[in-house]
Amino acid sequence: MKKKVLIVLTVITIIIIEIYAKCIKLNVTLKTNRVVEINRKFYNTKFIKKINNGKVVDKKIISFKSLGKKTITIKVKNKIGNIVKYKYDIKVKDSQKPQITYNDNITYEEGSEIDLLKDLNVQDNSKEKIDVKIEGKYDINTPGIYKLYYVAQDSSSNKEKKEFTLTITKKENLKRLNNNSFTTSKGFKGIIKDGITYIDGILIANKTYSLPSDYNPGLDPNVLEKANQMFETAKNQGLNISITSGFRSYNTQETLYNNYVSRDGKQAADTYSARPGHSEHQTGLAFDVNQINSSFDNTNEAIWLKNNCYKFGFILRYPQDKSNETGYNYESWHYRYVGENLASKLYNNGDWITLESYFGITSAY
Ligand code: DAL
Ligand code: ZN
Repeated sequence: MKKKVLIVLTVITIIIIEIYAKCIKLNVTLKTNRVVEINRKFYNTKFIKKINNGKVVDKKIISFKSLGKKTITIKVKNKIGNIVKYKYDIKVKDSQKPQITYNDNITYEEGSEIDLLKDLNVQDNSKEKIDVKIEGKYDINTPGIYKLYYVAQDSSSNKEKKEFTLTITKKENLKRLNNNSFTTSKGFKGIIKDGITYIDGILIANKTYSLPSDYNPGLDPNVLEKANQMFETAKNQGLNISITSGFRSYNTQETLYNNYVSRDGKQAADTYSARPGHSEHQTGLAFDVNQINSSFDNTNEAIWLKNNCYKFGFILRYPQDKSNETGYNYESWHYRYVGENLASKLYNNGDWITLESYFGITSAY
């Protein structure tokens, strides 16, 4: 009898101990999806779903700077007051594309040595190796505008692709006769007088050929008279044309250009605004009419001017799709006086030839 009681008591004690042990046993349940982005800050407890009979005593913010499997160790105080270390694994991944900063409009002269990666800056959130390449075809010996892509890919296959334009301009190819004169690639004679370039007698101001900062002639009276004749003729056909920006001094152009640079950045500004000393507005031979933006493009006034200006000695200076020659985007509102003779040749039955192409000169900084 006594023996039986002892056995029962022992069994009960064991059961009680087991129940007690179960009650105080530390039990950590983890979340199943334990993936975190590289460099992202998170609590070391982020992936713990539930803790039975324990409490984390070192909750803190951590992050990982490299990819792959990582072990997180946390300190847990169990039911009986002991601090135990608990470890669990997570995976650090990179799902972000590399960041590219780049020049979206690159210009090179035909035949020159080319480095398209020069202004490219690639950053990634990890220290992985980034593979950078250029997609698309171009030929440095064939002037034109090429659409190309920068492609940057990290080792986690995150890919960034950005389009940019490569403009290959015609080679200057001038033959210097002496300090003040030269012959262009198309055989026209150029002279430089008081810092101003004339080719075949035509004053040239573009990205290549600049004007002295103190050249301040104002709007040429002869040009104004011709412009008024042209506007009068247009008016008789019900069209309203007037000058909205005529002569601009070096300083005015400087302010204007700097404002555009602050607004859009230098690369963009250079596609539509001349740097000081390079504007045709400083020659006194050019002006803008009506709206100085693309809303003028398809107006009756713009169409009439484009087809009739040459009769008065004016040219559409920056025709559509000729920015690789002129250095500027299409400007339906900008007219330049060159005289009726040259204007008629450049008109070319409506398919305007640029001064750059006609004379065989460049327009590039
Ligand atoms: N918009 C023309 C290019 C100039 O600034 O002179
Ligand atoms: Zn203009």
